[in-house]
Amino acid sequence: MTMPIAIFASGNGSNFQALVEATASSELLATIKLLVCDNPNAYVIERAQKLGIPTFIFNPKNYATKADFEKDIIEQLNEHAVSYIVLAGYMRLIGPTLLNAFPKKIINIHPSLLPSFPGKDAIGQAFRAGVKQTGITVHVVDEGMDTGPIIAQKPINIEDNESLESIEARIHELEHDFYKATLQMVFRKGEL
Ligand code: GAR
Repeated sequence: MTMPIAIFASGNGSNFQALVEATASSELLATIKLLVCDNPNAYVIERAQKLGIPTFIFNPKNYATKADFEKDIIEQLNEHAVSYIVLAGYMRLIGPTLLNAFPKKIINIHPSLLPSFPGKDAIGQAFRAGVKQTGITVHVVDEGMDTGPIIAQKPINIEDNESLESIEARIHELEHDFYKATLQMVFRKGEL
């Protein structure tokens, strides 16, 4: 059985694309029913159109509250009979409306070894802090910013004098590989 999922993204969408490709090659036994995007100008929308994935695109500015747009999202998720929500560069906190509708069924990837460097520009934060090791974290989403129980982590060593661009490239490559493998493990177990 393949897991029906929705992917949420706000920007470039390289992780979205990697996950779609992993479902096509059956490395990830999931069906990506829907892309949910909170940024009408995001490049990920073009990727979804090319890959033939349905989209729900909304602008939070058109809603009075987070609960209002999360209700619309839930309607879409139910219409597509989605079991899990996979965040892939969705740069917005999930509110109680959506958390209560999908308890322990929302997963995020973050480009640092949490709890170090949560929030925006995690790779830049690690670079500027001068740490010798950073990495990626896949975790269950709760109401906090990049908090919630950790499912899996993967470290990388930062080389002496390594540029920010080089670290970013290596982290993203690792994410594309690690996210599909970790999600496959979660879906196979069927619970968190
Ligand atoms: C990824 O590096 C992801 O880990 C990060 O956003 C990037 C999205 O790239 N997420 C966070 O920072 C969450 N706090 P992409 O749009 O190319 O997949």
